[in-house]
Amino acid sequence: MATRSVQLVCLLICSLSIMKTASAKVNESPKQEKGKDHAYFVDKTIVQNAVSKGAVCLDGSPPAYHLDRGFGHGVRNWIILLSGGAWCRNITDCLNRSKTDLGSSKLMMPFIFLGIFSKSKRENPDFYNWNKVFVRYCDGGSFTGDIESVDLATNLHFRGARIFDAVIEDLLAKGLKDAKNAILSGGSANGYPAMLYCDHFHNLLPKAHRVKCLVDAGYFIRVKNPLLENVFESLFRDVVTLHGSAKVLPKSCTSRMKPELCFFPENIQQDMKTPFFTVMSAFDSYQVDNIVGSNIGDYIRARNCTESQNNAFKGKHTFKYL
Ligand SMILES: *[C@@H]1O[C@H](CO)[C@@H](O)[C@H](O)[C@H]1NC(C)=O
Ligand SMILES: *[C@@H]1O[C@H](CO)[C@@H](O)[C@H](O)[C@H]1NC(C)=O
Ligand SMILES: *[C@@H]1O[C@H](CO)[C@@H](O)[C@H](O)[C@H]1NC(C)=O
Repeated sequence: MATRSVQLVCLLICSLSIMKTASAKVNESPKQEKGKDHAYFVDKTIVQNAVSKGAVCLDGSPPAYHLDRGFGHGVRNWIILLSGGAWCRNITDCLNRSKTDLGSSKLMMPFIFLGIFSKSKRENPDFYNWNKVFVRYCDGGSFTGDIESVDLATNLHFRGARIFDAVIEDLLAKGLKDAKNAILSGGSANGYPAMLYCDHFHNLLPKAHRVKCLVDAGYFIRVKNPLLENVFESLFRDVVTLHGSAKVLPKSCTSRMKPELCFFPENIQQDMKTPFFTVMSAFDSYQVDNIVGSNIGDYIRARNCTESQNNAFKGKHTFKYL
């Protein structure tokens, strides 16, 4: 029964919101069409000294970010965004990824800043004059990997957790340590580390008045899809195993359940102390297509659902929560 109802469920308004929720797509860049006029490119900063700490991208190259300095009243405010881009779950995947800008800083181009990263006061009244940092994702494991040995045959490195530490350390030295206000945010695959490291990040900023975290289209839920498959649980199991993530996951979670389950935000949020915000549509296109599955996204996009189906989709009991 549950299976059927999920298959039938969809929503009208979602067709639009799905287009808008482009953030849920995996290789996204900041969206906000409105900001186009004021979009500007920011060069990459390579964190060269990360290499000596073993904090490197999949291909062994140093990690990188794009920094645009704050100004005026914003000089002591910082917004840091961990960019998204799915995961690599096996050697073949990761090797392929290491030849792209999601696995090597050698291939990263200047990045476009707009939307919440716009410098225009009119378009971005809250953050236009903040220090803005776009951290590039090049480890394939949501900034959680920490494996010392390097795969000899492929030269692949699984060091995402070290990258997070090295990048934040570099930013602290560039003024982040004196932040008055700071936000750690992450999109899609990297909404999760914005939660995982939120309290740690907060602790690094004892002088700050306010520190908060933001999960943008990265709050993936743990459900069985209508075919009773558990797509993300097996994905996360592969990711955690390949990247050696278990040791950076909260002990409060791993002592209760398998490490791959601690990759679901719902299982770590109880222990967070720092305030965090989540932006996640019930109709997030990536989640609907890849987690709920079974072509439900097609029904939704075709606007083929009744109102009661739409309401059911928004309800808590639509899915078989585990
Ligand atoms: C690696 O994972 C991809 C899916 O991400 C899958 O298509 C492929 O078959 C896997 N390769 C191996 C060798 O397991
Ligand atoms: C390898 O990466 C390219 C993008 O660079 C992608 O188009 C292709 O599908 C990937 N191949 C596999 C086997 O994952
Ligand atoms: C949506 O409904 C139309 C009209 O009944 C039908 O032609 C189409 O195949 C349906 N699409 C999906 C994805 O169910």
